[in-house]
Amino acid sequence: MSDRYLSFVNSAWGRRLAQAIGLPQPLPLQRHRSGQAGLANPVIVAGAGRLVAPVQRLFSATDTVSATPATVKAPSTLKVQGAVFDASGMTDLPQLDALYEFFHANARRLAQHARVVVLGTAPEHCAGLPQAIVQRALEGLVRSLAKELRRAITVQLIYVAPGAEDALDSSLRFFLSRRSAYVSGQVVRLEPPVDGAVAVNWDKPFAGRRALVTGASRGIGLAIAQVLARDGAHVVCVDVPQAEASLQQAAASVGGSALPLDITAVDAAAQLQAHVSQHGAFDVVVHNAGITRDKTIAKMSETAWRSVLAVNLEAPLHLSTALLDSHGLNPGGRIVCVSSISGIAGNLGQSNYATSKAGVIGLVQGLAARAAARQVTVNAVAPGFIETQMTAHIPLMIREAGRRMNSLSQGGQPIDVAETIAWLAHPASGAVNGQVVRVCGQSLLGA
Ligand SMILES: NC(=O)c1ccc[n+]([C@@H]2O[C@H](COP(=O)([O-])OP(=O)(O)OC[C@H]3O[C@@H](n4cnc5c(N)ncnc54)[C@H](O)[C@@H]3O)[C@@H](O)[C@H]2O)c1
Repeated sequence: MSDRYLSFVNSAWGRRLAQAIGLPQPLPLQRHRSGQAGLANPVIVAGAGRLVAPVQRLFSATDTVSATPATVKAPSTLKVQGAVFDASGMTDLPQLDALYEFFHANARRLAQHARVVVLGTAPEHCAGLPQAIVQRALEGLVRSLAKELRRAITVQLIYVAPGAEDALDSSLRFFLSRRSAYVSGQVVRLEPPVDGAVAVNWDKPFAGRRALVTGASRGIGLAIAQVLARDGAHVVCVDVPQAEASLQQAAASVGGSALPLDITAVDAAAQLQAHVSQHGAFDVVVHNAGITRDKTIAKMSETAWRSVLAVNLEAPLHLSTALLDSHGLNPGGRIVCVSSISGIAGNLGQSNYATSKAGVIGLVQGLAARAAARQVTVNAVAPGFIETQMTAHIPLMIREAGRRMNSLSQGGQPIDVAETIAWLAHPASGAVNGQVVRVCGQSLLGA
């Protein structure tokens, strides 16, 4: 669905009017297109921790403009597309001042759509109290910068555990590229990878891999299938048998195969296992299928309550455990679930949906260790307001509020969710496990 306000304030007289009366002026986001260079360039690399070396390795010499905290007081006029600040070595409170110095000197150097990443050591991995405090403080900085830098600039914090330094590439490539256009203010933890080091084809990371995507006949599911196929996967598209015509079309459009299946059917796991026996195990499973049956709880029927929990929560749990236990997922496999910010913040009229989507967060957190034992990761995305058929049915005023109540002042597109899932499903993302990443433009809900 088109966002008329976004187009209007980016027209010549719309811009003037918005400036004159102080209306929000969101910039249309720039998203990744095939054939584009992935990484933002040039990027300033600053700070002094154990992560500077892996960050610099990622860029060629011409990609980066190095700036240590000692030199940032002399800002250059060169605009940069991004900044990475390694704060992982900070152990005492006065060292936080280096962050002020760096961002104070460089905030205006960041071009529109720039990407900013702060790297840290998670407080649970810190040796003493001052270090744990300093590292926890980074969250406040990052969430504030994500709110105030504006101009479609995004800011994230990646906590890198000792031993995970060499597993940084897939996350940096995602957060320093246009693939993460609608992800901002997020905190991600990297642990030593569940599956060790892997050789990666960065252009076609899913080449030779099989992915299963539920709810793939339209909306976000179709975008996920398209992105995984673009990046080399053979995608098995699942949707209800009633949607078979559009499912066949979707599968054909991505060069994949169609598997009509109601994921809540009593024999759904058995049908998947039969598919695996015939065609081989999966490398990626994306539990995207979801439904809403909104009503306040006093007016909600038991069927509305039950059906939402069955599709959104019980089926992903049942199918994930069945696939894990029957070796239906290869080592190095990835399970990605789709939660929602309703599951984080709660939502009026969505007690069933929010319960199911909060349960999905419990699922990924609870299943992560068991999956890791099989060299598989389990993560979730939590989309905010995404422009789909689901949100097109929301009444106008509520829809407008949903679109604007985030730091980027606009709704996301299905591809924003799909790109985030592709990062979590990436063969080199074995260090990301049990995490929930919001794709919401830093929505104010549940923040
Ligand atoms: N659109 C948003 O703003 C938004 C926000 C947060 C989360 N989400 C979540 O993203 C996911 C996709 O949302 P969407 O907007 O693309 O929805 P959609 O309604 O357009 O697509 C959902 C798909 O799931 C399929 N499905 C439903 N029940 C199924 C079942 N029992 N078995 C197999 N397939 C089934 C549907 O047929 C449909 O094709 C959902 O989990 C949704 O809760 C969406």
